[in-house]
Order: sequence, then structure tokens, then C-alpha cells
Amino acid sequence: MDTIILGIESSCDDTSAAVIKNGVLLSSVIASQAVHEAYGGVVPELASRAHQQNIVPVVHEALKRAGVTKEQLSAIAFTRGPGLMGSLLVGVSFAKGLARSLDIPMIDVNHLQGHVLAHFIKESEDDHNQPKFPFICLLVSGGNSQIIRVNAYNDMEVLGQTIDDAAGEAIDKCSKVMGLGYPGGPIIDKLARQGNPKAYTFSKPHIPGYDYSFSGLKTSFLYSLREWLKEDPDFIEHHKTDLAASLEKTIVDILMDKLRKVVKDTGINEVAVAGGVSANNGLRNAFHEHADKYGWKIYIPKFGYTTDNAAMIAITGYYKFMDKDFCTIDKPAYSRVTIK
Ligand code: KG4
Repeated sequence: MDTIILGIESSCDDTSAAVIKNGVLLSSVIASQAVHEAYGGVVPELASRAHQQNIVPVVHEALKRAGVTKEQLSAIAFTRGPGLMGSLLVGVSFAKGLARSLDIPMIDVNHLQGHVLAHFIKESEDDHNQPKFPFICLLVSGGNSQIIRVNAYNDMEVLGQTIDDAAGEAIDKCSKVMGLGYPGGPIIDKLARQGNPKAYTFSKPHIPGYDYSFSGLKTSFLYSLREWLKEDPDFIEHHKTDLAASLEKTIVDILMDKLRKVVKDTGINEVAVAGGVSANNGLRNAFHEHADKYGWKIYIPKFGYTTDNAAMIAITGYYKFMDKDFCTIDKPAYSRVTIK
């Protein structure tokens, strides 16, 4: 019998639904919320309201594109956390209600586990480019920067993580103070391609072990900018490509320095990257350079599976379904928590 999973993601500002049949993706629909652009960041209340408007048409469209009726579904997987509580509640309540009405299992998914398992989304039967266990995954998003040892689909260990800001958060905040817009990641990425990464240096953290810190870099960036602006009020306009390239290089260096250490110490050279910041070209290039120089076997997700999407929730749901790892209706959404 076929296993058909509907995945639902609503943890931040994207409402998404996807359908996976026997591990192969049939459809993936994402409704992004443009309403936040004017505010330079996600406004939680507006996000919840937009999810309310989007959830029914997005799920409907995902089923339609997959050519699947809701009666054919085996289970419904949904992001239970971490994320914005109001946003999560929309997807969690909808998923639970639909599963209950169809009398099929509901499967709760940790959003971060979903990002890691995005590497197992298959677009066709003969798509075999998946990491082998155990592998190391650098998870870099707007809210998290973690190095994870992935032993199995359901067995992950956080080896290091940020003690303050996440990499994406640092990029977004620096972009905001330069007046470049939101979200900063793709804007900085584009500008950085035209700039000199060695034009400026910003301070790098000295944190023991495998943990990260990005708040010092952010402060150093803001402080330097303030001084330069005193000399030249148009400094940002004149130097934004070099600023973007130097900022991006510093962040990529910080991320890769710790990752190299983990790979060396664990001896595991299957290395993946996941999360929104994995769309960054500088980071992707650094992965390719490390593959050439150190013999890493690297796994970089397709652009569509880097930022929040329900395909990663559906694939995680698929593996949990195989383990009969179901959720009960009384399990609430949670806003904070990393992978265990
Ligand atoms: O994974 P994600 O969509 O959301 C969270 O779950 O946090 O990640 C969003 C983050 C934002 O900080 C955004 O600026 C960053 O990913 N991002 C990028 C790029 N595209 C998105 N950062 C750098 N370069 C990019 N091309």
C-alpha cells in the first residue's frame, strides 16, 4: 500500500504544504508573506493572520498538484516547533483538525530536524544523492546556527551552536542598519558577488569548543560603520559591495573554521549544509573549496529546500510514519527548543 504524507509548515512567515508518496515528492506549495517587507522584519501578529488566510488554499493546491485526494492520505505531518507561537498554532490546529476528521495519524515534526532531513527529499525514484549516516550537518538559518552529528533519521546530536545571535540574524541586522532591506541574506549575497571580500576586517569570536557567536561581529560592524559615516555620510552608498563582501566572508570564515574542527575531530567527512543561509553563494563556494582541499563529500540542498518549506516536513513525517512515531492531539506547539 502507498504511503502518502501531507506536510504542513507554518513556523514563521511562509505558509507551505507538500505531498510525498513513498518518499518521493509529488508537490510543494509555498505562500510567502510580503506584508513584512515594510517593517524590516517579521511581525508575528501579521504572520499569524496571513497564515490563517493562506492555509486552506495552500493545502488545497498541494493536494491538487499532487493529484491526491485527502481521503488517500496516510498521515499528516506538521511543524510543532520551534517558531513563532501564533504562526505555529495555525498549522498545528489545522493539521490536527484535518487528521482527526480523516481519522488518520498526526505526526509532529521538529522544524530543525526537518531542515536537516531536507537532504532526503527525492524528486524522483532514481534520485540517490543523499548523505550516508553518520554525517555532519551545518544548520544555518535566521534563528539557528548549529553543527549536528546525524547518526540516523531519528538520531541527531548537537555538537555546537550559537551562544547568542544566529548567522542569518547577524546578516539581516547588518543589512538593516545599512538600509538595504529585508530579508538581508539574499541582498548581501547579491552585493557581495561584486565586492572585494578583503576590503574590511571585522572582529571574529574566540569561543572554545564547537560553539558559535555572532553578536561581537555585529557590534564590530555597527561600530566601524558609525565611524566611517562620520567621515563620509554617503559611505554606505559608495562602499556597499565591499561592505557586503567583507561581512559575508567574515561570517563564512567563522562558520567554516568550527566546521573544519568538527570534521577533523570526528573523522566524519560526509558534510551537509541546511537552512536559509545555505542559499548563500559564498558559503556554497566555501563548501566546494573544502571538498577539493580536504576530500569532504558535500551535500548542498537545492535552493528551494534551503528556506522554510513543507517538503522537508513531509519527508521527516514519512520517516516517522515508518517508525510509527505518531503524535497525540494533546501535544501543544512549542516556540523554543533545538534538536534535543
Ligand atoms: O531557514 P530560514 O528560511 O528561516 C528560519 O527558519 O530561520 O532562514 C532564513 C534566513 C534569513 O536570515 C535570511 O536572510 C537567510 O536565511 N538567507 C540568506 C540567503 N537567503 C536566505 N543568507 C545569506 N545568503 C542568502 N542567499
